[in-house]
Amino acid sequence: MMENHNDWISLSGVKFVRNRRLILDDVSWEIRRGEHWTVLGANGSGKTTLLQLIAGYLWPTAGRITVLGRRFGETDLRELRKEIGWIGSFLQASVPPAQKALDFVISGKYATLGVFAKPDESDFAQAREVAERLRCAHILDQPYAVLSQGEKQRLLIARGLIHKPRLIILDEPCSGLDLVSREELLFTLENLGRLPESPTMILVTHHLEEIMPSFTHALLLKSGRVAGVGARDEVLIPDLLSNIFGVAIRAEYVDGRYWSKVDFR
Ligand SMILES: Nc1ncnc2c1ncn2[C@@H]1O[C@H](COP(=O)(O)OP(=O)(O)OP(=O)(O)O)[C@@H](O)[C@H]1O
Ligand SMILES: [Mg+2]
Repeated sequence: MMENHNDWISLSGVKFVRNRRLILDDVSWEIRRGEHWTVLGANGSGKTTLLQLIAGYLWPTAGRITVLGRRFGETDLRELRKEIGWIGSFLQASVPPAQKALDFVISGKYATLGVFAKPDESDFAQAREVAERLRCAHILDQPYAVLSQGEKQRLLIARGLIHKPRLIILDEPCSGLDLVSREELLFTLENLGRLPESPTMILVTHHLEEIMPSFTHALLLKSGRVAGVGARDEVLIPDLLSNIFGVAIRAEYVDGRYWSKVDFR
């Protein structure tokens, strides 16, 4: 299929209703090739739901979604999912407890959890290579269920990168990581983001300092509606941030990263 860069990822008038609750309302968002985005919003504002829609795990109640040039309704979503690396904890709940970490990482190639086609030698080699890059090669023989949260998180990321996706969705990837592991992960993302062949990244975070310089754009959500969208310097400003959280927030920009301070007064 021809890649249309203007139509890389596009949502228009997207609405999502669940149990008669309006969870996303009139969301329009354009992501161009080469941009990396961060998504911010209070707990429950609809971030994970929005990403699940983009990844084809949920279907919009209304509106139009195109992802990687594929228009929903005209494309096989299972094929689309194979081009997307999903790194987020909602997967963790569905991992079979006895699954070996190595098989968990390999399962990313097949965009499925649990049972999949018998892996071949190149799958194993790729899994080890990506695990080494993320410093989790030493735990590949352990059962997934016994690992610490930070170890699981690294495996989740390795799983998301193994099939060289064209889009990587990171839903709070740093949660549970210790201070140093978090920096390592952030620099891994930063280095990936700078490569010309980098997959497009969408990062959900609650912490401004996790927004590395490669993340050029930001989307703000408030109660399921877009409260800010565009170049990050224009979006990560005190007025807009204070609006989405309902308290005064200051943001300082130091060494290429934002640091926030909440003012309860
Ligand atoms: N299956 C569901 N049925 C009913 N409500 C749901 C369902 N899934 C999500 N919601 C609601 O939709 C809203 C948005 O949820 P979502 O998980 O997208 O928020 P979020 O922005 O990712 O929050 P967090 O920062 O806590 O991860 C929440 O109020 C949540 O309770
Ligand atoms: Mg969430």
